Amino acid sequence: MFDRFGYEIGCWDLARFRQRAPQDTFAAQNLQWTLLPDVWPGNAVATGLFTSWLPYDEADSFLEVGCGAGVTAVTAALRGCSRVCALDISPAAARNTRLNAARHGVDASMTVLTSDLFSGLGQSDRFDLIYWNSPYAEAPADHRYETPLEYAVFDADYAMHRRYFADAPRHMTDGARLFLGFSETIGNSGRLGELAAEAGFTASVYRREVFSVALDVPGLPASDGETELDYVLYEFRQA
Ligand SMILES: C[S@@+](CC[C@H](N)C(=O)[O-])C[C@H]1O[C@@H](n2cnc3c(N)ncnc32)[C@H](O)[C@@H]1O
Repeated sequence: MFDRFGYEIGCWDLARFRQRAPQDTFAAQNLQWTLLPDVWPGNAVATGLFTSWLPYDEADSFLEVGCGAGVTAVTAALRGCSRVCALDISPAAARNTRLNAARHGVDASMTVLTSDLFSGLGQSDRFDLIYWNSPYAEAPADHRYETPLEYAVFDADYAMHRRYFADAPRHMTDGARLFLGFSETIGNSGRLGELAAEAGFTASVYRREVFSVALDVPGLPASDGETELDYVLYEFRQA
């Protein structure tokens, strides 16, 4: 069933993003990063948690879907993954990731592509670890994307999540690990589990953290002004 609560939070988050002062750099993972207009900044709490939790040491090759400003993909290269590929549907995000790969001296081991999920990859491109910090706010099926930035927040009818599970196996090495950064507060975890199961995957929580935050979202219930907000890194295994 469609989750309106998550959609309202997504609208609120996007509105907050549009109101913030323009910035061309940000700090994350103890480094400075370049930020281009219309790219989701990589200093979000979720990005920081997922980036620090992923098991890079166990992967030689790393694929990030939806790289945004490139913090996680560049971190994978800095942490020793010898082949890193970063994809984003937004050309600005792909450009931004290239700039940050060069800024941190790992452009030689990275490939960055503008790509709708895995569509830009070759048939034989396979990776040991695949990861997406996904736009987990479910939008109605008829949601119209007005700007590229909306792809960082919304997935209409979870169609992209469905394709993520359906297409990932074609790009996994033997024994590869598949991850998704998500929020059970904002996303529709029931629906996500169904889509994963359709593609033969079962989900487990690799790591999760819960915060108490003041969500000032008009029309949403919040107890004493505080709501529990979680970020979860799921791992999916094929049955
Ligand atoms: C929540 S943002 C995460 C950005 C970055 N990885 C981070 O953690 O800061 C989701 C990213 O997925 C990208 N995205 C959404 N749909 C996509 C698709 N179909 N193919 C590739 N990238 C997509 C968005 O453009 C956005 O950069």
